[in-house]
Amino acid sequence: MNLLTSFIAVLILTLAALGFAYSTGLTYLLTVVIPYAAFAVFMVGFVFRVVQWAKAPVPFRIPSTCGQEKSLPWIRTNPLDNPSCLWGVIGRMALEILLFRSLFRNTRVEILQKRPVYDSAKWLWFFGLLFHWSLLIIVLRHLRFFIEPIAGWINSLSALDGFFEIGIPTLYLSDAAILAGLSFLLLRRLISSRLRYISLFTDYFSLLLILGVVGTGLLMRHFFPADLLQVKNMALGWVTFSPVVPKEVGMLFYMHLCFVFTLMVFFPMSKLMHMGGVFLSPTRNLANDNRMKRHINPWNAPVKVHTYEEYEDEFREKMKLAGLPLDKE
Ligand code: HEM
Repeated sequence: MNLLTSFIAVLILTLAALGFAYSTGLTYLLTVVIPYAAFAVFMVGFVFRVVQWAKAPVPFRIPSTCGQEKSLPWIRTNPLDNPSCLWGVIGRMALEILLFRSLFRNTRVEILQKRPVYDSAKWLWFFGLLFHWSLLIIVLRHLRFFIEPIAGWINSLSALDGFFEIGIPTLYLSDAAILAGLSFLLLRRLISSRLRYISLFTDYFSLLLILGVVGTGLLMRHFFPADLLQVKNMALGWVTFSPVVPKEVGMLFYMHLCFVFTLMVFFPMSKLMHMGGVFLSPTRNLANDNRMKRHINPWNAPVKVHTYEEYEDEFREKMKLAGLPLDKE
C-alpha cells in the first residue's frame, strides 16, 4: 500500500511536469519562481532541523562503542572505536561519514535449528556506499551548469567519471553506480518481508523520487538530449538573480526539475535529513572520557546527599566497636 501511494505520488509529479511544459505561465513558475522557493524551503528547513537537534541537551557522554575505553596504561585501547579525545572523534566521524564504518559491521540474525545465528551482512554497506558516493559525484558534476567558466576540478571529475569512454555520449561510472545502488535499496525493501513490513510511504517515496531524477537525467543524456545551452543559461540566471525561462528544453528536463524541486522541499521533513543528523548524533560525536572526567548533569536538581565521610563521622564509634575498617581513625 505504501509503495502504491508513493508510486502514485511520483506519477502525479510526472503529470504535473507535463502541465508545466505545456503552459507558458506554468513554465515560468517552474523555472523562475519554484527554484527560489524550493531552495529557500530546503535551506530554512535544513537549518531549522539542525538547530533543533543542536539545542537538545546532551548532559552525558553516551558514545555507542564496540572498543575498549581508555583507562589504565597497560590495557590496550581502541582509540578509533572508543575515542577519548577530539582527534579520535574526528577520525571516527570521518570513517563513519566517508565509509559508513558502522554499517560495515552490520550483521544478520537467522534462526537455524532453533538457535540464533549471526552472520555478516555486507551488501547493504556496499550498495549504500555506492549510492551515496555516486550521488555526491553527480551533484558535484552538475555544478558545471552553475559556474562559468567551469572550474578545472569539475572537468577533471567528469573526465575521471567517464574514464572508460563507454558509448557516445560517455556513460558515467557514477550513473551506472547510482542505478545499481538505488535498485538494490528498492529491491531490498520489496523482496524482504521483514523490511516490507517496516517500510513507510516516505521510504519508498524518497527512493522513487531519486530514481525519477536519475532516470530522467539518464534519458536526457543518452536518448533524448536536452538543449544544454538553454539549461546553462537558465541555471546561470538563477545564481545571478536574473532568471530566464528556457525555450524548447524538452519534456524530460521539466520532469527532471519537477522531481528535483520536490526532493528539495521534501528533504528537510524526511529521513533524508540523516545527511545533517549524522553530525549531531551524540552516540558518535562525543569522546568517551567518562573515566577521565566526571560529567555532571547541569540540570540535576539540588539533592541533599550524605557522603561516606559524613557517614563515617556519624557511625565511627559503632563501626570501631564492630571492627569495621575506617578511613579515618
Ligand atoms: C538532486 C539533484 C540532481 C540529481 C541527483 C541529478 C541527477 C542527474 C543524473 C544522474 C543525470 C544523468 C547524467 C549525469 O550524471 O550527468 C542528470 C542529467 C542532467 N541533469 Fe540532473 N540532477 C539533479 C539536478 C539537476 C538540476 C538542478 C538541473 C538543472 C540545472 C539538472 C540538469 C540536468 C541536465 C540538463 C542533464 C543532462 C546532462 C547531459 O545531457 O549531459 N539536474 N542529472
